Amino acid sequence: MTTYFRVFQGTAFTARSPKEIDMLKDYLFCVNAEGVIAKTIAPDAPDYEAIRQQYADEGRYQLLEQGQYLLPGFVDLHVHAPQWAQSGTALDVPLYDWLHAHTFPLESKFADLDFAAEVYDDLVATLLANGTTTALYFATIHKQSSLLLAEICAKKGQRGLVGKVVMDDPAQNPEYYRDADTSSALADTEAFIVAVKELAKNVKQGVYPVVTPRFIPSCTDEALTGLGALAAKYDTHIQSHCSESDWEHGYVLDRLGKRDALALHDFGLLGDKSVMAHCNLLDEDDAALFAATGTAIGHCPISNVYFSNSVLPLARWLEKGVEIGLGSDISGGYSPSLYDNARQAVISSRMLEEGVDPALPADARGVPSSRIAIDEAFYLATAGGGEALSLPIGRLAEGYAWDAQIVDIALSGAKLPVFGADVPPQEIFQKIMYLARPENIREVWVQGERVHQRA
Ligand code: GUN
Ligand code: FE
Repeated sequence: MTTYFRVFQGTAFTARSPKEIDMLKDYLFCVNAEGVIAKTIAPDAPDYEAIRQQYADEGRYQLLEQGQYLLPGFVDLHVHAPQWAQSGTALDVPLYDWLHAHTFPLESKFADLDFAAEVYDDLVATLLANGTTTALYFATIHKQSSLLLAEICAKKGQRGLVGKVVMDDPAQNPEYYRDADTSSALADTEAFIVAVKELAKNVKQGVYPVVTPRFIPSCTDEALTGLGALAAKYDTHIQSHCSESDWEHGYVLDRLGKRDALALHDFGLLGDKSVMAHCNLLDEDDAALFAATGTAIGHCPISNVYFSNSVLPLARWLEKGVEIGLGSDISGGYSPSLYDNARQAVISSRMLEEGVDPALPADARGVPSSRIAIDEAFYLATAGGGEALSLPIGRLAEGYAWDAQIVDIALSGAKLPVFGADVPPQEIFQKIMYLARPENIREVWVQGERVHQRA
């Protein structure tokens, strides 16, 4: 008989596709020593009772309590780790001013490893406590403190994908916060990739280096070309920002005479392991290019309210087959919670569909068929994020990592409004997605290891 590392019994919600959420009632989840779900067993399967009994006897069995549910851990596709220190502030100025007046001065402080350790420790712990088991991070331009972020993820058990940020253009970046020159930006990136790959050899849940041009406005053509080549040489993930705002989108058109998406493609930066944040101003051709190359959109609905001048036509791009997941964009978005971002994704999509200017007639106010449901937002936060990163995460299914959150809806002091015994599971799922707070997240697991528990 196969030996599992641990067996969990409970009711889980997991996304098959954007519109299909499976409820696995009272299943067994058999997790192997590598932290992968080796087998899921339905209550009517012949071996269900024997397995349950065997692992209970051996003390390697966990039965969820009444009121507890399993969800996959969330995948945050866009976090600026240093900006955690300014979350919730400076949200009243446009992107360019925000970068130069607030963000670059803050990020420059991460040359100080003690300061970096304090912020990064707190951020990774906070994200885990909010159910985020995988995060795709921008660090700063500093090689050492970027590596420190990867080490903190490794130590705390989060699956971290981390980029040393490249900003080498002296005409666009302040002297106090930019790479010394193009060749050192590329050399530091290469050394960072090698160091993270070395670190990863001893990290169960994985830690990954990410090629990270901040965005085209920060980088010279030479750096962008060099980064594309490094990503190909080491087969890394790639992240950047694309067509976020009118200013940024216009800047790229002016400088390069082509749209942001095509420019990134021509620098060798689009591909199956690429995630581009925001992408609000993509057109049909850009979206087709994303779909053809397997490039994913990191949709950051809270941040978009402040900085992107528009609402992403999410339903349209999902329909077209573009990979999309959710990002908090700390600190363009103030919240470290993908629950909050999933809620905002739904709200913004409704506002896009209905329109917002009451002076316009109803039939001219919005963009028809733009709404998404909370089910689709859940898909984005879980399976969609896993597909964006081309990793076996984001689903509670065989072959996927045991990355899970145990959510308690009956917790005293943080009870969700579920009354009576016959509330349909679909309603419980919706209530979790709309109403759960960090207190309700009792345990978080990554790759078969418990990484967070509330007393
Ligand atoms: N574009 C370039 N840098 C940033 C950043 O830090 N946040 C956001 N939202 N957009 C950016
Ligand atoms: Fe960002």
